[in-house]
Amino acid sequence: MDKEAIKITKRGRVDVLAGKLWGDEGKGKIIDKIAPGYDVFIRANGGGNAGHTVCDGNNTHVLHYIPCAVLHTDKTFICAAGMAINPVDFMPEVLGLEKINPNLRKHLFVSHQATLITPIHVAKDMWRENGTGVLGSTKKGISFAYADDTEHKGFRLSDILKYSSREFLAEYENYRKRERKNFPLIPILLNDEISQEEKLWLKKVDQMRASIQIVDTVKLANELLLEGKNILIEGAQAVLLDGRHGCYPHNTSSHTTPQMLVGYAGLPMNAVRDVIAVTKWYGTRVGGVKPLSAMEADIDELFRQTGHEFGTTTGRARTCVWPDELALRESVTISHPNKLYITKMDVCPVDVVKIAVEYILKNKEHVSYPPMNLSDVETVVYKEVPGWKFENKDSIPENAINFIARIKKLFPFIEIAGIGVGPNRDDIIYPSSNDLNKIVFNFEHS
Ligand code: GDP
Ligand code: IMO
Ligand code: MG
Repeated sequence: MDKEAIKITKRGRVDVLAGKLWGDEGKGKIIDKIAPGYDVFIRANGGGNAGHTVCDGNNTHVLHYIPCAVLHTDKTFICAAGMAINPVDFMPEVLGLEKINPNLRKHLFVSHQATLITPIHVAKDMWRENGTGVLGSTKKGISFAYADDTEHKGFRLSDILKYSSREFLAEYENYRKRERKNFPLIPILLNDEISQEEKLWLKKVDQMRASIQIVDTVKLANELLLEGKNILIEGAQAVLLDGRHGCYPHNTSSHTTPQMLVGYAGLPMNAVRDVIAVTKWYGTRVGGVKPLSAMEADIDELFRQTGHEFGTTTGRARTCVWPDELALRESVTISHPNKLYITKMDVCPVDVVKIAVEYILKNKEHVSYPPMNLSDVETVVYKEVPGWKFENKDSIPENAINFIARIKKLFPFIEIAGIGVGPNRDDIIYPSSNDLNKIVFNFEHS
């Protein structure tokens, strides 16, 4: 056997996990739960706009940048090329996490191709959000950072390595001058002098240079794969927020589909085994517009209070959305998962659940797939089904089983991999449980 063939037989596998709706589906919890099955975790996209919660049963941790398996200390963590990183937020997160994963920096590698978020990006985002053209962003500078990257005029993490502290300051000052000329009204650019905020950012840039391993993560990930390591690629945000296929203009700016996540990681498509989707059984949306199937105000409030639906990053109230089969169908069509985790099944504070099954367009046409232009929709048609109450976390109520069976019937090719019944790592019911076997069995034989 030649050397290349030996390498290929040793190759590990890649799974890729993405949120299915508009974010906050409980990706953090699922990743933390399935983490023991992998050696390497790659956060592929986004930046401090993400907020991922993991609860190990004792403590709750919120992660913005670092892969969600970070509570598992013996693993390798990669922040990939699709990310946008602000050292002012990144460094404290890493240092804080070292209280629970003391050798984190030894096991953490950050892509030299990731985009560097500057204080000017954050200031522009605040300026836009506080002004008239409100997108509903997280005000973390995300879209402006990626825009600079697309315009080939921003910084990448490679620039931190390329320049010494003094040289980097000079580069930043040049960039700042150009920005000041083009955007003289942005508050941080009103003065000729560098602000305290920018000085702090420059200090954190220096801290990253001194203490973070900035490397070619594509090369690294491929080497690890060929060593036989199993890799989980983790998407921030979710399919319906994708920078291209998502709900433009209220979407995020990076790409969130599994296909693009694999691209950001730079791993081979043919090494991918599972495409894992995570969805809440209902939906939530934070920022921007309300989805068509948003819940009625009183019910929205009920779900928000019961499900603690407040933004992990911004604390904003999340809009709660009835389960929408059209949104799910669109997400599946874009992202093609073969495994699905459904979270928050324990949260159902109503007796009647409405499921969006059709939209009626203004031209009276009935559609079961979202039209290209959502403003063409006149009415949402709902099917009402009974709600459920969980008496305990070991068994799924009959009405909840029927709800899951409906999803299984819509997407027979997707395996229901687990049901979330609480925020903690172990609050999960697997299909091997009798209840879920029943739906899979019933469905497959009906
Ligand atoms: P992510 O961005 O997809 O990782 O999700 P977030 O962390 O922003 O929001 C999900 C919230 O739901 C967090 O507070 C989780 O602790 C919580 N959570 C996750 N799964 C479940 C579940 O099955 N039931 C309940 N009640 N809470 C859950
Ligand atoms: P996780 O990974 C929910 C939304 C913002 C806004 C739009 C653009 O925790 O699921 P941005 O700051 O990215 O320019 O904002 O995208 N958004 C999220 N919503 N969860 C997230 O991340 C989000 N990241 C961005 O609310 O509507
Ligand atoms: Mg979140």
